[in-house]
Amino acid sequence: MIYLVLQTTIIMMITGGVLALLLVIAEKYLADYGECKIDINGKREETVKGGSSLLNSLNSKNIFLASACGGRGSCGFCKCKVIKGGGPLLPTEKPFLTSEEIADNIRLSCQVKIKNDIEIELPEEIFNIRKFKAKVTSIKEYTYDIKELTLDLTDSTIDFKSGQYIQLHSPRYGKVKQSVSRAYSISSNETNKNVVQVIIRLVPRDLHNLGT
Ligand code: FES
Repeated sequence: MIYLVLQTTIIMMITGGVLALLLVIAEKYLADYGECKIDINGKREETVKGGSSLLNSLNSKNIFLASACGGRGSCGFCKCKVIKGGGPLLPTEKPFLTSEEIADNIRLSCQVKIKNDIEIELPEEIFNIRKFKAKVTSIKEYTYDIKELTLDLTDSTIDFKSGQYIQLHSPRYGKVKQSVSRAYSISSNETNKNVVQVIIRLVPRDLHNLGT
């Protein structure tokens, strides 16, 4: 009898898992949300292709929110107020939000998928964030898991103050199968406006998934 109950439970779990997987695949490859509008602060409207995260959709319009985990939902940096159209709060967002933030409609923009028109609020200073092109000119190994990266800016100079951070975006290239974005504090001297240095520590994959 116990054996029969156990067997039925296992079959139900497997069926549930398969159905959930099919739903995820269908959502990813079959869903077409068409063009959606992002209303920002009631002043600016951007049209994007639905189906991407709010974080990536804003990035595609050169509006950059902080992200240390590249949109994996493990850093909690990409917060943004979603007034309308963001869908229900996901379990992946809750650990990073206080009850006050939840009441104030703050969401993790990397977890909000654009499926329809959406209204959001962003601090004005976000619009001052700019994109720079840079070339890696030196990689110094400090320890087995820490390196110093020197980046020469190729299209502009940069004004920064100690303590500020930059977000590095590495495109798909060669063996790098997907583009990656990460935030790092600047370690170089602010008097040199042509160069940015950052010190990078390799985070093991399992630790990264835990958000460390
Ligand atoms: S980008 Fe890290 S949690 Fe959203």
